[in-house]
Amino acid sequence: MKDMILQVSMGNIIEDELMSSSVIKDLKPLDFDYVPEELLHREEQLRFLAQMFKPMLSRITQNAIIRGPVGTGKTVIAKKFCNSIKNLARKQGYIIEYVHINCRKRSKDAMALLGILNHFDSRFPDRGFSVQEMLEVLRKQLKKREAHLLVVLDEVDALVKKSKSDLIYNLTRFSDESYKEKVPISLLLISQKDIIPMLDSSSISTFKRSNVLLLDKYTREELYNIVRQRIDLAFHNNIVNDDSIDLIADIASEWGDARFAIELLWKAGIAADHQHLQIVTPEHVRAAKAETFSVITETKLKNLERHQLITLYSIAKRLKKDGTAYVSTGEAEKTYAITCEEYNEKPRTHTMFWNYLKEIESAGFITIKLSGKGHLGTTQLISLPDIPAEVASDKVKDLLD
Ligand SMILES: Nc1ncnc2c1ncn2[C@@H]1O[C@H](COP(=O)(O)OP(=O)(O)OP(=O)(O)O)[C@@H](O)[C@H]1O
Ligand SMILES: [Mg+2]
Repeated sequence: MKDMILQVSMGNIIEDELMSSSVIKDLKPLDFDYVPEELLHREEQLRFLAQMFKPMLSRITQNAIIRGPVGTGKTVIAKKFCNSIKNLARKQGYIIEYVHINCRKRSKDAMALLGILNHFDSRFPDRGFSVQEMLEVLRKQLKKREAHLLVVLDEVDALVKKSKSDLIYNLTRFSDESYKEKVPISLLLISQKDIIPMLDSSSISTFKRSNVLLLDKYTREELYNIVRQRIDLAFHNNIVNDDSIDLIADIASEWGDARFAIELLWKAGIAADHQHLQIVTPEHVRAAKAETFSVITETKLKNLERHQLITLYSIAKRLKKDGTAYVSTGEAEKTYAITCEEYNEKPRTHTMFWNYLKEIESAGFITIKLSGKGHLGTTQLISLPDIPAEVASDKVKDLLD
């Protein structure tokens, strides 16, 4: 009898939760892969891409790079643009095949190539073919279809860094005039970092600086509008109050990262659902921030290179030891040299150290400001605005070890 009552009430709990209404009317627009109809604050950048790739419509290949910090819309702008040019070409009777490869997921030449071949033949075997053979198959496919291939290599630094990749060189050679069986391939490389120096010399001249679209971090106002747009698409009317949107924009503006803003919005919605409320309040946003933060920090840390990690570790260690709010860049550099010794690494030059500082600043881990009173000349001070020094130093140490 008791069991039965328990079963009934548990059934009720499950049913209640499953059937309870949600503040979210459609989850899709909150997905990271979702491409909204309208990209806000990127009109000029879309225009720039269109100008750069216009020759493709006259069957001339083009190559370009999109670069910018995390969550600045690199992937979404590429998807939007490439689909548009593909559709427009099709209306003119010209076939552009657009393939988007994420090189963090496919970080070797063979894997990336397989991704391209799968676009033409989803059953293409994933082993048994060498890179050279796969390139030949690709050439035949393009010849047969009389198609122009537009390949986006997204997060391309993962490819170039890991495998001493020849893929970019090989693909650009396809459309080389002097090559016997020329087929048109245009490439769009996407990266957070400047990848030009990581390319081979022939690719460097292909991707000369003038073909780079630089995306800036979003401002607070831009993030506000991006969040508003997602609310209209994903939430029921009048659910997210203005204060909550303000707070999301405030929090995300430190990084200028639209993905972070959208993630906060989504998680705040879930937090409201958990309380069966029909409104999303700043308290839900704060809860979302607390939850997201540790995950974000971790993924971002994994993106740092070893010397950037050593630099960050040195700063955190120093702040923890001194118990101060700031450490000067001079002191940080001294600690960096000592930490390098601990890890059997050769300290890099002063200029390189500065680059590391700038990079971990743009990744949002530290802030650097000019000192006020009490310091000599142009001393710059570093602080860790968001993570306790102890947590940062432990996390980074784990990665270094
Ligand atoms: N201008 C915009 N208008 C509307 N939504 C945007 C805009 N820019 C970015 N987004 C959204 O923000 C999220 C992050 O954008 P995206 O994935 O393009 O960033 P990214 O620059 O490729 O980041 P990463 O360097 O981490 O790959 C996506 O959900 C995207 O749809
Ligand atoms: Mg991306």
